[in-house]
Amino acid sequence: MKPSIILYKALPDDLLQRLETHFTVTRVANLKPETVAQHADAFASAQGLLGSSEKVDSELLEKMPQLRATSTISVGYDNFDVDALNARKILLMHTPTVLTETVADTIMALVLSSARRVVEVAERVKVGEWTSGIGPDWFGIDVHHKTLGIIGMGRIGLALAQRAHFGFGMPILYNARRHHTEAEERFQARYCDLETLLKESDFVCLVLPLTDETHHLIGKAQFEMMKKSAIFINAGRGPVVDEAALIDALKNGEIHAAGLDVFEQEPLPVDSPLLSLPNVVALPHIGSATHETRYNMAECAVDNLIDALNGKVEKNCVNPQVAS
Ligand code: GLV
Ligand code: GLV
Repeated sequence: MKPSIILYKALPDDLLQRLETHFTVTRVANLKPETVAQHADAFASAQGLLGSSEKVDSELLEKMPQLRATSTISVGYDNFDVDALNARKILLMHTPTVLTETVADTIMALVLSSARRVVEVAERVKVGEWTSGIGPDWFGIDVHHKTLGIIGMGRIGLALAQRAHFGFGMPILYNARRHHTEAEERFQARYCDLETLLKESDFVCLVLPLTDETHHLIGKAQFEMMKKSAIFINAGRGPVVDEAALIDALKNGEIHAAGLDVFEQEPLPVDSPLLSLPNVVALPHIGSATHETRYNMAECAVDNLIDALNGKVEKNCVNPQVAS
């Protein structure tokens, strides 16, 4: 008999078919308690769980006593209680490699659009303001050859460094838990402590996952250290930044602008002060959201679940130690 799984995210037809050749699939809209209650038997017997974004915690796991593996269509897994998974020997699979280049492209888009005010001036063209010509109040600031600070030198940080170094001639500073030889040798990235990075960078790019250690890593004190001309970019996770402090820093002119793909609360509430600041480019968490990459992530997550439930966890596994 095929193992049964719960799918809580829509998949392209061909990937759903691939999944169904291996598993009996129960599709649900989300993992809310009422949904779980409605499909209690399917949850109780499921050995696998596939989807993204929703919270997976002890409360849910208690309803899934047969669960052996969960697979998220994302690189980030801060929405999972990893300790609870470990305690129950449940594997957690993710998609760390397939989205790297796309997310780095998104970060460059944020860098360029915040510095050159692309969104703002394009809107002014659309409402007819160009007809009276443009002046210095339409100008931006340069990106090329400015100093880029990268906080978090993982795969995405490295792909960003490559773009910035070769494409834009930008000197690169980085801060990470350890030195990254490849970044230093290929892109002349210079390791420095967080304070030095914040003080010296023209663009401060945050590409960190959310963990207990990174929560509110950037707050009032850190914004005060940045240049008044600095542009702050966050494409990791919202809660790594104290958003109230960011809003103050933008309002008080402690930093020049921000480009944000992630927020403390998502979707961003319509009354967020960030939405009324002209010096903010806010994107709806689209770091990896291209047709190609979202397909590749879904495929990777499907294959990860097939591998995990067949005892193969050589790659893409957050907690391979529970397999033994
Ligand atoms: C997106 O934010 C991801 O974690 O894949
Ligand atoms: C990006 O989404 C990350 O988790 O590094």
